[in-house]
Parts: sequence; structure tokens; C-alpha cells
Amino acid sequence: MALLWLAVFLTPASCLVRPDQDGHHSKLQVLSADPKSPIENFRMQATSKTLFWDVTGNVSNIECSKNSNYPTKAQNNHSCKFHVLPKCELSNYTVTVTTASGDSFSTWMQYPVQEGSPGAAARGLKCRVHDVDFLTCSWEVGTEAPGDAQYHAYLEAVTSEKTWECPHYGANELGTRIQCQFKDISAFANVQYRFLVNGTSTESRIPCSEFITYLSHIEALSPPNMTVSCNKSHSVMEWKMSSRFYNMFQYELEIQKGTDRPYIHREDSKTSLVLSNPGAYTVRIRARVRFYQSSPWSASQSVVCHQEEDADLHFWLTPLVIALVTLLFVGCALFLCKRYSVLQKLFPPIPHMKDPLSDNMHSERMLAWESDRAGQEECPVAKVHVLEEK
Ligand SMILES: *[C@@H]1O[C@H](CO)[C@@H](O)[C@H](O)[C@H]1NC(C)=O
Ligand SMILES: *[C@@H]1O[C@H](CO)[C@@H](O)[C@H](O)[C@H]1NC(C)=O
Ligand SMILES: *[C@@H]1O[C@H](CO)[C@@H](O)[C@H](O)[C@H]1NC(C)=O
Ligand SMILES: *[C@@H]1O[C@H](CO)[C@@H](O)[C@H](O)[C@H]1NC(C)=O
Ligand SMILES: *[C@@H]1O[C@H](CO)[C@@H](O)[C@H](O)[C@H]1NC(C)=O
Ligand SMILES: *[C@@H]1O[C@H](CO)[C@@H](O)[C@H](O)[C@H]1NC(C)=O
Repeated sequence: MALLWLAVFLTPASCLVRPDQDGHHSKLQVLSADPKSPIENFRMQATSKTLFWDVTGNVSNIECSKNSNYPTKAQNNHSCKFHVLPKCELSNYTVTVTTASGDSFSTWMQYPVQEGSPGAAARGLKCRVHDVDFLTCSWEVGTEAPGDAQYHAYLEAVTSEKTWECPHYGANELGTRIQCQFKDISAFANVQYRFLVNGTSTESRIPCSEFITYLSHIEALSPPNMTVSCNKSHSVMEWKMSSRFYNMFQYELEIQKGTDRPYIHREDSKTSLVLSNPGAYTVRIRARVRFYQSSPWSASQSVVCHQEEDADLHFWLTPLVIALVTLLFVGCALFLCKRYSVLQKLFPPIPHMKDPLSDNMHSERMLAWESDRAGQEECPVAKVHVLEEK
């Protein structure tokens, strides 16, 4: 192996060729493990996303791979077509030939050509479809981006290469764009798209960054919109699910009654659930695309549905309690006041009896009068008695 590697780096077969003027063919960093390799004139045609070569001699098998993944058999022994050709990310395209005599040779190239400082490119580009029709992508400013760098974002259908420029940018505090939003993607099919961010600067070239995906793969589901209603005996939960790319859902409802442990109820495709005599409970819901992903939980809803018996009890109980409490108060008041007046009757104020006898009757009478008055003010019922006495 070590010898082979040495051979790789010592062979004069390696060359670096820039793409030709029309950009159709590029041959760069082509390394052949052996000058006896039957592969010659190795080249990438960007417009057709096809790798071509010429074969010299008899071969038994030829395979192509990108970044050493998923080897596929060559077409007619002289080309491999790729479904997606990254425009920004460097990939390693390898052709492995097995000759009729059983020897194996690999030839590879890196594509595309890297321009500018890689550290100036937008970093951590990620996108998601959310709230049904929104597509939002965000990225970070490259660590080596010049101060005047500005980013430009594009959405491009991989197959048709139709391109849309970003309609709404979001920028950081320095005015450098770090986000792009498409507010209505309802007309976009679920095909593969390339989200590409390149940049401009007066100082240096800014390489592009890309994110290639099917829009359905990046859809973040929103929780279903649920409404709950109650009558005396039943509670009805109904919900609506909205999604741009999915229409088959499994629903999970987490229901908790009183102090019971919450339980999960699952519904396949049905969008309602009826509980009988549920009393008070809380419920939240989420949607799941089977084997794939689920939405976050909805906010918990607290529902108070009175069961029929409870409602009847409640109907009678409330006035009964009010009546009892009222009675109690009235009773107390009557008792207190009655007791006062009875005391007065049993032990009429001494000053009255002393009245004709005492010399200092005046002051004592005044005192008694004062206490009398205090009693009246506290208890209006007693006042009647006092007045009657007078
Ligand atoms: C290729 O293989 C065929 C049949 O296997 C043989 O007749 C022919 O001579 C071979 N050609 C070369 C260049 O080895
Ligand atoms: C490209 O892939 C080939 C084989 O898959 C490997 O030998 C070679 O080192 C790779 N080149 C780079 C630059 O990674
Ligand atoms: C590719 O090579 C194999 C093995 O030599 C041969 O049998 C086959 O006919 C070739 N295919 C084409 C299309 O040339
Ligand atoms: C950025 O990419 C778009 C779309 O591929 C292209 O039209 C534009 O010329 C590029 N701009 C720069 C500065 O490379
Ligand atoms: C949820 O449904 C209600 C009633 O159907 C509607 O008024 C509301 O706008 C919906 N909310 C969302 C986020 O869809
Ligand atoms: C309460 O709602 C349930 C479910 O919709 C229904 O079957 C039932 O007849 C209703 N009961 C009353 C008393 O309205």
C-alpha cells in the first residue's frame, strides 16, 4: 500500500488543468495510480454532469464513485452520469478499472475548481420549510470573510437548473446577510433543490456554499391546530393538520385526567376524538409522519367538562351552601343581639334604678347611656328594643 501511495505521488501522470473557456470540460488534479492504467483523457462535462474517459486495451469492469460512496457501473465503458454535481463543495470522482487480466487501476479527480479563500465562504448553511409555505435558510459569515463581503443567495432546481434569487434577506448588525426567506413556496414541487450562497467583495473572491436537498426532507411540521368542546356528557377534540409536502399522519394525544398519569392516545389519519364523562383534563397533540419525523407538541389545553351527575350536584349544592351560610350569619347576628337585649332586660341598667337616689347620678347615668349607645351601633336589631324601652 505504501509503495502504491509513493507511486501515486511520484508519477508524472498527475496534472492540474483549469476548465476550458466554455467551462464544459475540466480536468484537474487527475492522478493515476499507474501509468499503465487503461484510462486516458479523464474529464468532467459540467453541463451534462458526466465524467468521460477513453479506454485503451481490454477491460472487464469499470465503476465510478463520488467520494468513495455508492460505486456504479460505467455506461458503455467510457462515461458516468451523476444526478447531482455539487457546484461549491469539492468532491472526489473516482473511476476504477479492472482489466481483462485482473489488474485494478483507479483514477480520480476533484471537482469543482476551488476559487478564493475557503474561509470566506458562508458557513453552516442550513434550510428548513416551516409554517407550511415558508422556506428559511441561514448561515454564518465566513471566519476569513473580508470586511466588505456581502452574500447572495439563490435557489435552484437541480434538474431544470431554473434559478430564483432570494426575495427576502436577513442581515446581522453589520449589514452582512445571514438569512434568506421565501415566504410562499406553494408552487415549488418536491424535487431536489440546490440552495447556493456566494459572495462579493472588493478584496478577494468568495467561494460559494451549497445545500442540496428535497424540500420535503427539510419540512419542519407544525403541531395540529386543535379545538376542544364539551357538553354535559362528552368532550370532542377536533384538529387540523397543515403541511406542504405530507398528507398522511399519525396523531398522538397526551391526555391527563386529574392527578392520573398522562397517557398517549394514537389516531391514524382520523382527526377527532370523543371522550365520555372526562371531567377536567389537559390535552396536547402532535403529528407524526410515520418512520420519519414528528411535529413538536402543541400547547397544553386545560378542559373542564362537568359530568352530568357532577353538574346536577353542582346545581343543587351551590344554592344550598349559600343558603346555609346565610342562615348561619343571620342566626349568629340574631343570637348576639338577642343575647344583648335579653341581658338588658334581665339586668336593666343600674343607673336607672339608682336614678332617684344617687347624688352623682348624672355622671353614672351618662356612662350607662354611653354603653347603651355603643350597643345600639353594633347591633341594629337591638336598637329596636332599646327604643321600645324608652
Ligand atoms: C481483447 O480481448 C479479446 C478477447 O478476449 C482478444 O481477442 C483481444 O486480443 C484482446 N485485445 C487486447 C488489446 O488485449
Ligand atoms: C479520491 O478517492 C480515491 C479512491 O476513492 C482515493 O484514493 C484518493 O485519495 C481520493 N482523493 C482525495 C483528494 O481524497
Ligand atoms: C465494456 O467492456 C466489457 C469488458 O471488456 C465488454 O464486454 C463490453 O462489451 C464493453 N461495453 C461496451 C459498451 O463497450
Ligand atoms: C452567484 O451564483 C449565481 C447563481 O449561480 C450566479 O448567477 C452569480 O453570478 C454568482 N455570483 C458570483 C459573484 O459568483
Ligand atoms: C386554528 O383554527 C382556528 C379555528 O378553526 C383558527 O381561527 C386559527 O386561525 C387556526 N390557527 C392556526 C395557527 O392555524
Ligand atoms: C354531547 O356530545 C356528544 C358527542 O358529540 C353527543 O353524542 C351527545 O349526544 C351530546 N350530548 C348532549 C346532552 O348534548
